[in-house]
Amino acid sequence: MKNLAEKVKEARIVAVLSVNDKNDAVDLANALVDGGIKAIELTLRTPNAFECASAIAEKAQKVMLGIGTVLTPDQAAESKRRGADFAVSPGCNVRVIDAAKEVGLPFAPGIMTPSEIEQSLEHGCTLMKFFPAGTTGGMKHLESMAAPYKHLGVSFIPLGGLKLSNMKEYLDSPLVAAIGGSWIAPANLIKARDWAAIRKNAEEASSQI
Ligand code: 3PG
Repeated sequence: MKNLAEKVKEARIVAVLSVNDKNDAVDLANALVDGGIKAIELTLRTPNAFECASAIAEKAQKVMLGIGTVLTPDQAAESKRRGADFAVSPGCNVRVIDAAKEVGLPFAPGIMTPSEIEQSLEHGCTLMKFFPAGTTGGMKHLESMAAPYKHLGVSFIPLGGLKLSNMKEYLDSPLVAAIGGSWIAPANLIKARDWAAIRKNAEEASSQI
């Protein structure tokens, strides 16, 4: 069976979305899939985020369902119950990593320092979310930071400040399993329910991989 890093590497793009209405969530996921997106990170930043996750898992076209902004052990367990395929967090909280492991939820913790990489490795995670990528030095930072750990098979999902114009410079690195960002499904287009525009953004991003 493929591990999380292998599956994420096949997807290459993780579309980040924050949505609060479960019907919108299904339409949004379908628009992304129609545009060629294979993996999403649904953030826990809206009151109904878990309902949206269930709706996507049950009603949308097949997509790799990631839950993001997982900040507590309970949220990790609930993500699993809602049908998540994986979860990520902006930071590296070992209690959350261990809770995800406990329920069998593949997890990619957030890192931006060597110490956080070492904590992640110690708790069994070799795929990590490099966040916030854009403001902490981008690929230059990731390459020098990851150099001492390359032999351990680490890989990363850079997030934060990525867009159509710079996604390729990240994807070209063998350290990068997939890139992600919210520019494909931004808040204004979700609010306007402009699924056609989101699908177009997804197609443009997919054409770069
Ligand atoms: C995330 O939650 O993964 C990031 O906030 C996405 O960052 P972006 O909004 O800069 O794409």
